[in-house]
Amino acid sequence: MEFSIKSGSPEKQRSACVVVGVFEPRKLTLAAELLDNAAHNHLSDIIRRGDMEGKAGSTLLLHNVPGTLCDRVLLVGLGKEKEFGDKAYCDAIRSAVRTLNETGSFDGTVFLTETSVRKRSSAWRVRQATMVAQETVYRFDQFKSKKDKVRRPLRKLTFVIDRRNELAAAEEALHQGQAIAEGMALAKNLANLPGNVCTPAFLAETAQKMASEHKLECQILERDEMTALGMHSLLSVAKGSQQPPKLIVLQHKGGKNDDKPVVLVGKGITFDSGGISLKPAPEMDEMKYDMCGAASVLGTIKAAALMKLPINLTVIVPSSENMPGGAATRPGDIVTSMSGQTIEILNTDAEGRLILCDALTYAARFQPETVIDIATLTGACVIALGHVATGLFANNEALARELVHAGDDAHDRAWQMPLWDDYQELLKSPFADMANIGGRWGGSITAACFLARFTRKYVWAHLDIAGTAWKSGTDKGATGRPVPLLMHYLLKRAGKLD
Ligand code: BES
Ligand code: MN
Ligand code: ZN
Repeated sequence: MEFSIKSGSPEKQRSACVVVGVFEPRKLTLAAELLDNAAHNHLSDIIRRGDMEGKAGSTLLLHNVPGTLCDRVLLVGLGKEKEFGDKAYCDAIRSAVRTLNETGSFDGTVFLTETSVRKRSSAWRVRQATMVAQETVYRFDQFKSKKDKVRRPLRKLTFVIDRRNELAAAEEALHQGQAIAEGMALAKNLANLPGNVCTPAFLAETAQKMASEHKLECQILERDEMTALGMHSLLSVAKGSQQPPKLIVLQHKGGKNDDKPVVLVGKGITFDSGGISLKPAPEMDEMKYDMCGAASVLGTIKAAALMKLPINLTVIVPSSENMPGGAATRPGDIVTSMSGQTIEILNTDAEGRLILCDALTYAARFQPETVIDIATLTGACVIALGHVATGLFANNEALARELVHAGDDAHDRAWQMPLWDDYQELLKSPFADMANIGGRWGGSITAACFLARFTRKYVWAHLDIAGTAWKSGTDKGATGRPVPLLMHYLLKRAGKLD
């Protein structure tokens, strides 16, 4: 989709559709009022008759509105004005774009970006609208032989802002929003691919292609190189699979030579059967999404490259399949990680931490400013936070605060959980330095505690995206989260955010 920014009056727009908001109950926004004046109260008449109350999520499409130059006017209900915050704004943009796309408008001129949202600038409104619009028209149909094509899809959106002196900032926000949306689309596409297509080798090839397209540096470590480095924890996960594991490194060098990089580590289990600790059958297909951490860090580096973000960013993806083949790791097996610490593998389904711990040890060689890992790590995190917030753990409070803030700004939120030493005891093993599971309670915390034992040398955070990376049920699909959170964090560090 194409996007642009302008400022102007709604009645003067030559457009397939002009989109304006109505608050509940029956209160026109400024743009709607201007249209109404030009149309000799056509809109207020309709509203008085009760066709549009302004309820959040409602829409009303009008044709041939007198006094205007557009083909259609779309009224979008915004809910109560007092309650018009981030969520209501994003929902309004989503219903506007969905309606435009389904009702034959080739282009739309959207005045919702003029409406003030509590504590948010117009740049924020534009950035968010761009991301939400792209997200709304996203489809994953590459395996459908008959695609349900939208007959006349929406091709062009113009966002209107009220002040001319904000045009430059809005323009920049638009570009940021587009880059983030492209990163999210990549993350979703990779994640939605089935496990028989998206293997560790496929992820490695994708990284190599991205490197040549976006001038990134790419390195793929094969099994023998990982053996030489002593990554026996990572390798133990791949043993039951026919697919060779890969360790992918991609680097965006947008900063000065001696700027320390931010390192993002993404869990890349392309299918998690549980291994010998086999998972139950229901919903096991969703374990193709166990590489959503990997997908999100690849999406993030793509967005950073598109924006030419002036920072150094390194992404590391440990990738493997977790399968129960004859050579698979057995419960009770003990392995030595790259750090030298030994691990008793009591449950082969707690494999994410086993591949991450070696990748996190490897991360130290990049002399990172900060390391953030992103992983669909625990079902327990979904129990704790549901599908709204990502679980956040950190060994540094300033970093935790920055990430929470970035998540709020992006409307891609994270909630901090404890990483207290008291939980470490649960990982005791009678035979090795630690066990790979900590028992039934506080499962997302003990998983984070396990990782914390490999990240003592640097500032680190862990994002458990098990509940937020994809949706189940009828609208099953990847969400592209937490690309927006990560990009807001990086933009802020680069001084590119208002
Ligand atoms: N990939 C799963 C976590 C997961 C499960 C994410 C369901 C989203 C939905 C992970 O590898 C796993 O299996 N974790 C186990 C850990 C347990 C064995 C300690 C879990 O959460 O059950
Ligand atoms: Mn598992
Ligand atoms: Zn897993």
